[in-house]
Amino acid sequence: MKNLTEMDKVENYTPGLSIEEIQKRYSLDKVYKLASNENPLPPPEELVNILQSKIHTIHRYPAYMRPVVKAVSAYYQVETQHTLLGNGSSEFIDKLMQAYGSPRVSVLVSEKSFPLYTICAQSHRLNIYRASMKEGLKVHIQKMLSLLDRHKDIRLVFISNPNNPTGSYITHSELETLLFETKGKSVQIVLDEAYWGYVRAKDFPDSVSLMQKYPHLILLRSMSKVMGLAGLRAGVMLAHPTVVETVKKVLCPFNVNIISVEAILYCVSNRSFQEYLFHSKELVWNSLDYFYSELQKMNLPFYPSQGNFLLFSIGKPSAFSYLLKRGLILRSLNEPGLEHYLRMSVGLEQENKKAIELIREFITQT
Ligand SMILES: Cc1ncc(COP(=O)(O)O)c(C=O)c1O
Repeated sequence: MKNLTEMDKVENYTPGLSIEEIQKRYSLDKVYKLASNENPLPPPEELVNILQSKIHTIHRYPAYMRPVVKAVSAYYQVETQHTLLGNGSSEFIDKLMQAYGSPRVSVLVSEKSFPLYTICAQSHRLNIYRASMKEGLKVHIQKMLSLLDRHKDIRLVFISNPNNPTGSYITHSELETLLFETKGKSVQIVLDEAYWGYVRAKDFPDSVSLMQKYPHLILLRSMSKVMGLAGLRAGVMLAHPTVVETVKKVLCPFNVNIISVEAILYCVSNRSFQEYLFHSKELVWNSLDYFYSELQKMNLPFYPSQGNFLLFSIGKPSAFSYLLKRGLILRSLNEPGLEHYLRMSVGLEQENKKAIELIREFITQT
């Protein structure tokens, strides 16, 4: 039985507000949600048809894992023993803490990063160290290394790369420095590459090859973002076979549902899905360029992003509720130092235009 007072201390994950909720609250006909870093493109018809045809099999447990693991491994160019499928990549954040955590174990994260790392660490009663960021709201590898040096109880390091919510990234050589310095030191480096599919930076880590070279590097790849499977909850862990076997022990049986299994298989093995991926990236790259130029015109500071979202400053904390009442849901951030910032996800072209129109309205009217 869990100690209630300890569980009371665990923060809840706050999902983005829903369109229906805001529509009802402010009696609005149309609400734009650019708050949860989702893919705004609906799935291809072909995938919808495949999934519909599988619906009559839901009385069975999923029993198709081996071919899917094989297809996913081929897609990421790794051997099958490196691959594990999850109920969203979030499942691995939690399960890695469960598998490697104990009362004497600490977790290291960067400040201004994905809140789920803290929530999962708290729920497994793990101590957390936070490395401050460097200029440009970038993850500070040297700060992380000095914390690792000082605190020998750190067994897990979580890095969101690209980083949610700042959009910044660590380079291949920064990652390799971290891996080289921590080699053989019983610490696992978890690189959460949820937004990997959108990256344009040329010096972004070739993490799969580093994972083959450094067995303490664990990669998480969400299928919720560029692949557009957020509602199905699908994610992948790529890691050394001993890590895969350890995490398997704490996964619930049949953790990926029968419909998700089909969707994953389609995304990694159907050539026509390449077109969807192409459009997903194109939309994000064009939209980010549009946001950069419009925010510049309004003199609003922002951080360039490698994800499908953008962190920008609007100067006043009242902006979030103003925009909400006008039918635009963005993400406000609970992080110290980011009170005047909002995170805006990329939407469809007309949604992006509407968002910029409402932001302009806010800064001219207030
Ligand atoms: C950095 C990061 N990691 C993981 C996730 C969770 O992804 P999934 O939907 O695969 O659980 C998110 C979701 O927004 C994220 O931003």
